[in-house]
Amino acid sequence: MTRAASARMAGLRERLGGFAFGGDYNPEQWDRPVWDEDVRLMRQAGVNLVTLGVFAWASLEPEPGRFTFDWLDDAMDLLHRNGISVDLATPTAAPPVWLSQRHPGGLPVMEDGEVFGFGNRLHFDPGSQIYREHAARITTKLARRYSRHPALAMWHIGNEYGPLSYSDTAAIRFRRWLQRRYGDGASGLEALNDAWYTRFWSQRYTSWEQVAPPEIPRSWSNPARRLDFARFSSDVLLECFLAERDIVRSVRDDIPVLTNFMRFYRRADYWRWADEEDAVALDIYPDPGRDDSRVAAALNFDLMRSLRGQPWILMEQAASAVSQWTVNNVKPPGRMRLGSYQAIAHGSDSVMFFQWRASRGGHERFHSAMLPHSGTGARTWREVEALGNELPSIAAVAGSQSRAQVALLFDWDCWWGLETTHGLPRNDFDYPAIVTGHYRPLLEAHHAVDLVCLDSDLSRYKVLVVPNAYLVSDDFVAAAKRFVAGGGTLVCSFFSGVVDPANQVRQPAYPGAFRALIGGYIDEYWPAREGERFAVRFADGSTVDADWWQESIQLESARATAWYAGGLLADRPAVIENQYGAGRVVYIGTRLAEEALRDTLLAAVRSAGVAPVVDEAPSFVEATRRYTADAEFLFLLNHSDSESAVVPLPAAGTELLTGSPVSDAIPLPPLAVAVIRMSTGS
Ligand code: GLA
Repeated sequence: MTRAASARMAGLRERLGGFAFGGDYNPEQWDRPVWDEDVRLMRQAGVNLVTLGVFAWASLEPEPGRFTFDWLDDAMDLLHRNGISVDLATPTAAPPVWLSQRHPGGLPVMEDGEVFGFGNRLHFDPGSQIYREHAARITTKLARRYSRHPALAMWHIGNEYGPLSYSDTAAIRFRRWLQRRYGDGASGLEALNDAWYTRFWSQRYTSWEQVAPPEIPRSWSNPARRLDFARFSSDVLLECFLAERDIVRSVRDDIPVLTNFMRFYRRADYWRWADEEDAVALDIYPDPGRDDSRVAAALNFDLMRSLRGQPWILMEQAASAVSQWTVNNVKPPGRMRLGSYQAIAHGSDSVMFFQWRASRGGHERFHSAMLPHSGTGARTWREVEALGNELPSIAAVAGSQSRAQVALLFDWDCWWGLETTHGLPRNDFDYPAIVTGHYRPLLEAHHAVDLVCLDSDLSRYKVLVVPNAYLVSDDFVAAAKRFVAGGGTLVCSFFSGVVDPANQVRQPAYPGAFRALIGGYIDEYWPAREGERFAVRFADGSTVDADWWQESIQLESARATAWYAGGLLADRPAVIENQYGAGRVVYIGTRLAEEALRDTLLAAVRSAGVAPVVDEAPSFVEATRRYTADAEFLFLLNHSDSESAVVPLPAAGTELLTGSPVSDAIPLPPLAVAVIRMSTGS
């Protein structure tokens, strides 16, 4: 499977001669003469791949069973004549009105019981049989008609899978899903009752028919039921993807098949999805109005690379502004280019946009595009055109891999455990923000980071960072123990290892999962009061600020390295350290101020013997490396729009964007990018 996927992606790279460059193309929104201008300008901008047909169902099947493929034939032929390859989408993210009206049962039911009607997109119930049949029919038609078309380079299944449904159909599928997890019949139901701890509040089920999706929690509800529904909802969406994937693959199996993921998307467990695709693809829209959005972007890029441990596809980004926020700021000059290289620096093999030509109407009429409303005179067009013509200079980078010695846990079970269930000591955890808080210091100190999940192989890393992993599996606990016992360094922050996958408190508490690892136990979790802050004193005498959370830690084999300086927990441990086998665990029992978390993390990384990608560079410069069997590429990106930097180089080489030889150090003006092919591995 993996080998076949690599071969399919290698075939795509070969066909495109390196990176993919292009975007969503919607010729169905334009009269035919416009298309000729489109392809002429695509060629001018170096476009080599476009995604066609994403929301085109109504244009392809205007009435049930009446198919109108002529325009798509024409578009595919035109693109092929112009040397542009096609990432052909199944249009199933936007069912036509006839389908929704004839079969309202195909519409999703929201958590409050209201039907999500026609008029937006993603108005499908992923569990609906009728939706699935129609989706399979249009997919089969497309696969038969276009699989051998010479323009076809890749299949794009659906778009940004996401809808949840609480319908009767969902209830039936949810029960089946639960029966697969817990077993069917009476013994399965017993296992479900145990897992959901239905002894509490008289929630015991005596027949499978009584089991249903969780309703909107009017006050409180069963945390294990909500957790299982989150898992089920991801899986039921995945079934839709798999059904269409298998159809297109049954007709032709040598080209990549994938779908596009979203930034920090809670409803789909991308670790489970990624293995089913030939490559991971991401749509990313960092808010240009927020200076730090590049940090979350980098984390999402590293996550996409880590999901399969392979280069990934940047499937969509904006040339400038988007249209989904209250205020949609533009990307200032140079930012789109920088963001594009940032994705490549973190493992992307493409730069793709939403969309090619700005729509005249519809919700996204003010969304930027490669070709804006103002045409080729626009500043954004010039930037897009320049980037498309510059990318071939780094073609050798496409397909190259990344390496990291630091692993950071990002897992959907942890996320759901913290955020979709209720009744925690505090109920305002923001898991992506927490993980980003642990990632930022590593990024700013130029460390290469892989994201890992509860099932990942940890053996290749030296450091494992576990941020607020409330829910962990037994396998992960065992793997973490092996990792540390074998010499690894684990940095774990508070409220981790608390419950099992059924959301039940591990005994003896706390943290039942990690007690031996951290060398102590927590007698009580102490969430902070509104605005409360507490000083934490480190062994070197320095005092730092903390807030939000405290724990009353009782030491067993660990020793304290920082203590509360006052308050009810005065002189009690705030940060502890434990030797476990040949390795070491640092446990942080409070939310340390940003600089203190940074210092604690970086000290652990340093003492684990992990070297940064470059030794000396300011924190606003990002540094990553990509490797092939015989080459090594250093990426340096200056994210400041006002400050320059000079970065000493680990080896001499050639800066590929300019073709100039470089040695010793390289100057980086504001927003500059350098891609250095190093002469020696270092
Ligand atoms: C998503 C979708 C696109 C478009 C963009 C707008 O990524 O896939 O169809 O709506 O957002 O930013």
